[in-house]
Amino acid sequence: MDLLQEKLTLPNGSTLSNRIAKSAMSENLSNRLHEPTPVLINAYKKWAQSGAGLLITGNVMIDSKAIGEPRNVVVENRKNLDLLTEWAATANGTNTQLWAQVNHPGRQAMEQINSVLKAPSAVPLKTGGRKDATSKIPEALTEEEILAIIEAFGNTALILKEAGFSGVQIHGAHGYLVSQFLSPDANTREDKWGGSLENRSRFVVEVYRKIRALVGNDFPIGIKLNSADFQKGGFSEEESMEVVKILSKEGIDLIEISGGTYEAPAMLGKRKASTVKREAYFMDYIEKARKITDTPLMLTGGFRTASVMRNAVASNQLDVVGIARPFTVYPNIGHELFDNSRSVFPTNTQKTGVKGIDGFMNIIWYEAQIKRLGQEKAPDPGLSAWSVFLKYVWLILERKFSRIF
Ligand SMILES: Cc1cc2nc3c(=O)[nH]c(=O)nc-3n(C[C@H](O)[C@H](O)[C@H](O)COP(=O)(O)O)c2cc1C
Repeated sequence: MDLLQEKLTLPNGSTLSNRIAKSAMSENLSNRLHEPTPVLINAYKKWAQSGAGLLITGNVMIDSKAIGEPRNVVVENRKNLDLLTEWAATANGTNTQLWAQVNHPGRQAMEQINSVLKAPSAVPLKTGGRKDATSKIPEALTEEEILAIIEAFGNTALILKEAGFSGVQIHGAHGYLVSQFLSPDANTREDKWGGSLENRSRFVVEVYRKIRALVGNDFPIGIKLNSADFQKGGFSEEESMEVVKILSKEGIDLIEISGGTYEAPAMLGKRKASTVKREAYFMDYIEKARKITDTPLMLTGGFRTASVMRNAVASNQLDVVGIARPFTVYPNIGHELFDNSRSVFPTNTQKTGVKGIDGFMNIIWYEAQIKRLGQEKAPDPGLSAWSVFLKYVWLILERKFSRIF
């Protein structure tokens, strides 16, 4: 029996049909009102046929006043329940669970398209990260606002459950709000939401508890968590392990491990030579995490070779292989892995040659491939980086100057 095709039962009793998961990728494919579009829904129709046991959507924003990208889907009320139901239904009749990732960007919201940035503390992003969000100093959240955001996470998760998604994942990684609370660098609060790790992890625990209280025990809830922020003074590996223990005890169903923030984007491949050799980025971490929890673990970042994926599962150090960028250019990746028709899934981002722009290419070039998938076009490995960039700038300008909000 191929280990990648083995079922996995989650703590809540629900079952993933195999060990291949599409990790979250912001699709940037909503319409101007941040509603799901036919192209977005069609991309999921394709991925629902990919063979993967689990698909996790790109981050769905919980608040229209805090948006990561110009065309993120926002779910803050039931006005688009029909469209969300159509999106969730793409996985009906398949062996694939479709989870929605819920996110609040905090200070990592795109500055050009949000009038205020809110964060645990008034600490701005440092240079080297998303240039569009580096300069503005965020406003520190009040206690009342923190409680409202926790409510909003719950509200969004409940609406997504009603729409028919089979689970939700809290985005607790990559420097967004949950991860900002966890970081001693971004979170300098002196109240019960900052300081000790117990205080810094209060936000994620309360978000989890709120969602659990609303969706019930049978509904899968996962988290994407940083193995570390890879920044001086940031959330460390030791602290991350403690959070794994805390969330396991709370009863979370799946912990996906990634790492880095948009100040130090380790999740997209900035890594040590030793890790390059192992292909998957956070393998050292997952080996240690396996020893401290029985909660199913998913590892995402760098997996490109079937044998590496198989060995990772065979070694029993992780339960689910998380894959992101290859899903955009090999949309049948699950089947290709299972029937051995392809054994490597390389991804080669096109570049403009301008350093300040090319950091973004690791995201927006793949978003353009997702759009092609939704438009019934074949993946285009030679897709021009400049055309992708200029179209993206247009989306930002359009969102910035629209009078919709
Ligand atoms: C286009 C794109 C959008 C992404 N958006 C998200 C996101 O919304 N949420 C998230 O947790 N990670 C996001 N990521 C990170 C991926 O989930 C993943 O961690 C990263 O790409 C490394 O995995 P890979 O080497 O298999 O691509 C995104 C990555 C890409 C390429």
